[in-house]
Amino acid sequence: MALLLGIDISTTATKALLMNDEGAVVAVASNPHSLQTPAPLWSEQDPAEWWVATQKSIRQALDKAGVSGDDVAGVGLTGQMHGLVLLDTEGTVLRPAMLWNDGRASDECDWIREQLGLDALVEATGNNAFAGFTAPKLLWVRNHEPEVYAQVAQVLLPKDYVRYCLTNAYATDRAGAGGTLLLDLQTRDWSKKVLDTLDIPAGWLPATHEGPEVTGTISPEAAAATGLRQGTPVVGGGGDQAAQAVGVGASRPGVMALTVGTSGVVFAPTDNAVTAPNGTAHSFPHAVPGRWHLMGVMLSAAGSLRWYHDTFAPDMSYDDLLAEAADVPPGADGVFFLPYLSGERTPHANPHATGVFFGLTLRHGRGHITRAVLEGVAFGLKDNLTLLREAGVPAPTELRVSGGGARSPLWQQILADVLGAPLLAPQTTEGAAYGAALLAGVGANIWADVDAACDATIACTVTATPDVAMMTTYEGIYQTFRSLYPAMESLF
Ligand code: XUL
Repeated sequence: MALLLGIDISTTATKALLMNDEGAVVAVASNPHSLQTPAPLWSEQDPAEWWVATQKSIRQALDKAGVSGDDVAGVGLTGQMHGLVLLDTEGTVLRPAMLWNDGRASDECDWIREQLGLDALVEATGNNAFAGFTAPKLLWVRNHEPEVYAQVAQVLLPKDYVRYCLTNAYATDRAGAGGTLLLDLQTRDWSKKVLDTLDIPAGWLPATHEGPEVTGTISPEAAAATGLRQGTPVVGGGGDQAAQAVGVGASRPGVMALTVGTSGVVFAPTDNAVTAPNGTAHSFPHAVPGRWHLMGVMLSAAGSLRWYHDTFAPDMSYDDLLAEAADVPPGADGVFFLPYLSGERTPHANPHATGVFFGLTLRHGRGHITRAVLEGVAFGLKDNLTLLREAGVPAPTELRVSGGGARSPLWQQILADVLGAPLLAPQTTEGAAYGAALLAGVGANIWADVDAACDATIACTVTATPDVAMMTTYEGIYQTFRSLYPAMESLF
């Protein structure tokens, strides 16, 4: 039986997942990375740590499964998006990688909008400029570290640096490439217009590939380092959100992926390149050839509940804390929580937004406030769904839910009632690494295409169905939530 390997280079760790050709997870191994924040807004990692963690995780996964690298038919890569890795002509890393959550490049975002004009930027790339995206950070290096910039020969995303270590090839997937702000959304290849206007050499960028397309094969050195067989094909894979969507079966329009992790994501596959007005939602190619996606990303979803629990009720179990919230009516008797603990990305692109509790009175107790946190995150996700709907995306037929927040039945019911669609949980919780392994399986001809791979492997159970009366109640409460950000924006 052929095995498939999915590798996820996330912000916290690199995970290697081995799957059999029926989609069953055979072994998983993970090794952590450190993160450096040497100055306010900076977020950096040493790419060497990803490669060390990748080698260890692959070897551990093969060991756990009791198999040899010869049994692996294909490798798929996924990982944190938007990161900037700079190499010189020898392939040597020039400075620490600047990550997706690095906020130092906001002046460069303004400059990009000035140079191209917002309309032309959105027309070409589908997106507005966000500080975490790759291009603004590259321009920051040009402005602040000219001695580094002078040596640049290659610009890679984090997982594509690992791809380079595995295959010696400079290549990327198109879903991840969308997050650089340098991709032409229609052609799914680098935008000459954007590169010329920003004066970035096209030769610095890797070849772009569809998610299941083979980008190279395991080199002799990488085979010796990992235990994989030399010549094993490595496919494009996808940025973590696109691979996560594949991993929960959100490959076709209609089925959306809802991630309630530290951050929260509403991901809608589309048949065409759909953009939100002024590029306020992220519009990238999907890891499925010929499809795209429109995505809203809120920065603090389950992260809000974790902060609230750790700060105010560290000695309580989550179950006990949430049981109090279950006894409180929808709307928490007028208490609202604005979940902007880490600023916000979509729909309010505002790093200066902060968390807010609104509407407190002497009548309110802890259960009200807990419920307000759960509802505030659900409303933040609804803001993102609304943004997608306003851009022309049809209402979801179902939401494939994953992430730590998805484990609470109360929160799931709130999400179904607020978002107005049934929630379905896939049987595997391995997310992006699972999706990357499925893409490898398509590249290795185990499945005909990504839809077939998802259909053959992903089974879901319905975990919450929206209650029609509750949907109406929440629609009214949501309108109040929606009015709070504009009322406070100038104070942020
Ligand atoms: C997507 C995004 C995150 C990062 C880190 O736009 O910023 O998903 O890829 O996980």
